[in-house]
Amino acid sequence: MWEANLYRKKHGFVFDYGKDLISMLNPKAGERILDFGCGTGELTAEIAQSGAELVGIDASAAMIEAAQEQFKAIKFIQARGESFIDTVQYDAIFSNATLHWILNPEAAISAMYSNLKPGGRLLLEMGGKGNVAIIIDTLQDVLEENGYVKQSKTVNWYFPKLGTYSYFLEKNGFKVTFAHLYDRPTQLNDPETGIIDWLTMFAGKYFADIPENEVTEIRRTVQDRVRDKLYRDGHFYADYKRLRICAIK
Ligand code: BEZ
Repeated sequence: MWEANLYRKKHGFVFDYGKDLISMLNPKAGERILDFGCGTGELTAEIAQSGAELVGIDASAAMIEAAQEQFKAIKFIQARGESFIDTVQYDAIFSNATLHWILNPEAAISAMYSNLKPGGRLLLEMGGKGNVAIIIDTLQDVLEENGYVKQSKTVNWYFPKLGTYSYFLEKNGFKVTFAHLYDRPTQLNDPETGIIDWLTMFAGKYFADIPENEVTEIRRTVQDRVRDKLYRDGHFYADYKRLRICAIK
């Protein structure tokens, strides 16, 4: 279960970074736009300032509840992206930091395609190949040292190569007009517990069957171990690699 308060308080970078995506989306008054994986709705609300009509969907009930409470004029729906088909199509779909949570990429792409009008545009950003590899490889090592089995990274996330995701989009009818995979070291809020907080918020599945006192110790060990590579200027940085794509139906 996602914790909407922890997300907003310590991981606001998720929506802060999404802001420059909005200029690429170029929303216009009167357009109908779907925010595919809206989280707590901050970017949905920002896009709505263009005068476009926004609908936000998210698989997490807690996120949708928090979004609806804060942004009452926008319609938010709890739905899984890969099975959400609306009755009226959209001019554009915006998706920030969501598609790496959907382990069946073609199902998500097919749903997005169905939800767009012909000529409609898709603008997405997600974790790409090598995303958070330093954090997760270190976590795997520490889990193994503590007697737990290494889990495949795909248990939790899908971080595709640029070519792979572009291929899936084209195979499902999209025309890809822009694709870029880039490093985006992401400063974590708390200088003392940045990596611990990140693991707490996002990597829960790796700790599913581990007693809480051990979890605390494992998170602490991971943070200590990545310090050499991921700590500078008084902050931890998550080693994010982002895939940004524009495509047209
Ligand atoms: C990401 O935005 O890249 C991400 C967020 C949480 C977990 C994994 C990746």
